[in-house]
Amino acid sequence: MSQLSKLTLGCWAFAGGTEWGDQDESESIRTIHSALDQGITSLDTAPGYGGGESERIVGNALVGRRDKTFVATKISDGVSTESAITESCETSLGLLQTDYIDLLQVHWADHEVPFEETIAALQGLKDAGKVRHIGVCNFGVIDTDGWQAAGGELFSNQLPYSLLSRAIEYEIVPQCLEKGIGILAYSPIMQGLLTGKFKTADDVPDGRARSRHFSTDRALARHGGPGCEAETFAAIAKVGAIADGLKVSMAALALAWVVNQPAISSAIIGARNPGQVAENLSALTIQIDDELDAALKVATDVVKDFLGTNPDLWAAESRYAL
Ligand SMILES: NC(=O)c1ccc[n+]([C@@H]2O[C@H](COP(=O)([O-])OP(=O)(O)OC[C@H]3O[C@@H](n4cnc5c(N)ncnc54)[C@H](OP(=O)(O)O)[C@@H]3O)[C@@H](O)[C@H]2O)c1
Repeated sequence: MSQLSKLTLGCWAFAGGTEWGDQDESESIRTIHSALDQGITSLDTAPGYGGGESERIVGNALVGRRDKTFVATKISDGVSTESAITESCETSLGLLQTDYIDLLQVHWADHEVPFEETIAALQGLKDAGKVRHIGVCNFGVIDTDGWQAAGGELFSNQLPYSLLSRAIEYEIVPQCLEKGIGILAYSPIMQGLLTGKFKTADDVPDGRARSRHFSTDRALARHGGPGCEAETFAAIAKVGAIADGLKVSMAALALAWVVNQPAISSAIIGARNPGQVAENLSALTIQIDDELDAALKVATDVVKDFLGTNPDLWAAESRYAL
């Protein structure tokens, strides 16, 4: 049975769509194969990524390679009752062309349905051998306490974490450390912002300018907040200067920082081609000592302070129970 690797390949962008734009399926499959060939053993997808499109592409890529891969997928927001969860899992199994899922995660907590019902359905799938581990995403400290009090297994909590999204440091990381819950860090280079490829906020496509870093005036944003574009791009420039001094790419440095933070089991990278996979894997060769860790935190504290304790990247009124 395959295990999580320190970097997991995230497969959302393979679905293309509003956030990501055009993506060629054969390029996606080459990207997955190059990741697996270079030592990445885990993939993360979801039914919500292109309405099953990402899972379908992952299934095609894994023909002949399934047993060497740790496959994580999810149940969508609002899929919380026993029948809906069973149906979702069966659909995922079909698209992924497999008879088991290594990690089945709740995508967002459903505060309308008792956790007990969701847990019973997931546990039933595990007992039937269709799921190896049960995990969650986007759970605040109250969600996690409630889930565990209801008897729920927690292999991991998948959360947004990068130098530009550090809200989980306030309460969720300490809770995960105390309870021994591994964090799967998503958007570790903040959807590409921490590569330096975007020079100004106007360069960022609307699909990726939905986060609270950007003004709610952006076409697809719904958070209602002012955004912190000036602070974000000032922080990116500082991280870039540190990367230049070390003669490493900004993406690799930002990823290395995430991987080296407490409680992180894996960083879920969103590479779209084999070149990005190779560059991102170079993060594993960068040492983050205390001095470098402190310098990167100082460079990005202004964004952390602005965004505050709400980890929700896309909503001012947090969907996390904190
Ligand atoms: N549970 C959740 O609620 C949740 C939410 C979000 C994401 N996720 C998971 O986390 C995964 C990763 O999220 P993400 O895609 O936002 O991750 P990310 O690693 O922060 O951003 C990935 C994007 O940055 C660009 N990029 C990546 N490496 C690069 C490099 N070396 N040089 C230049 N550009 C590079 C690519 O887009 P371009 O080349 O187009 O710029 C890529 O699609 C998703 O696929 C998904 O599995 C989960």
